[in-house]
Amino acid sequence: MKLVHTINELRAELEIQRKEGKKIGLVPTMGALHEGHASLVRRAVAENDVVVVSDFVNPTQFNDKNDLLKYPRTLEADCELLDKEGADYVFAPSVEEIYPEPDTRQFSYAPLDTVMEGKFRPGHFNGVCQVVSKLFMIVEPDTAYFGEKDFQQLAIIREMVKQMNFPLQIVGCPIIREVDGLALSSRNARLTVEQRQQALNISKILFLSKDFAASHTVEETQAFVEGAIAAAEGLELEYFELVDGTTLQKISSWGETDYAVGCITVFCGDVRLIDNIKYKEL
Ligand code: PAF
Repeated sequence: MKLVHTINELRAELEIQRKEGKKIGLVPTMGALHEGHASLVRRAVAENDVVVVSDFVNPTQFNDKNDLLKYPRTLEADCELLDKEGADYVFAPSVEEIYPEPDTRQFSYAPLDTVMEGKFRPGHFNGVCQVVSKLFMIVEPDTAYFGEKDFQQLAIIREMVKQMNFPLQIVGCPIIREVDGLALSSRNARLTVEQRQQALNISKILFLSKDFAASHTVEETQAFVEGAIAAAEGLELEYFELVDGTTLQKISSWGETDYAVGCITVFCGDVRLIDNIKYKEL
């Protein structure tokens, strides 16, 4: 496995691989890797000849500067994990390498990016699209892998790929959870032992709501989740929305869609956690 810091070096390496007809997979990450990322890398390794993992904390997608400062940076441990999982290249550029000049491009995929995270984190998806589009242009992968935990991000990236005609395939991979149900996230590292216990209620409530939804309306299910989070110690709900999994627009009845997803964002102390659950799947 090679650790590469510059675009030129990575391009030169990948040009050779491409000339040999190798299929290239890309796993974009912001580092602080965990089993969720490892599962993306394993899938990429199984489906490609060459796997590039980017490890870059992208400043343009942080609307909260404090969040950016606190974001864990663990390149050495990341490289160990990636080597073990069979990645070929770790691309860990500097901010100046990716943004030699401020990126003034504006990406707008309304209504996908104006709801949920888009409402609460203005500019976040613009930053995600800036960096992901750059990574696609640098790596030119055949396939790129993203986790379904960031459900809205995945829908927006799929839309960007369509609108910008990127010649690649996007693969969405299922959420990886701890044995007790907590969705894996780099942010979990910031939870105290007590908060870790409190955060567990997020997935518990989502799982319970799936059973509840089987015999209740969308409105009742919404109230069930909101009420349960409000009653749970240490958790503060930012939003819970029941949406169509493709359009991300709110649904008002289960019959409206074949793909119903509940997306939630909760603060546990000052740690912002997201999760989602599928009530109806395509
Ligand atoms: O999901 C993430 O970790 C980031 O948003 C991504 C896709 C790597 C872009 O910085």
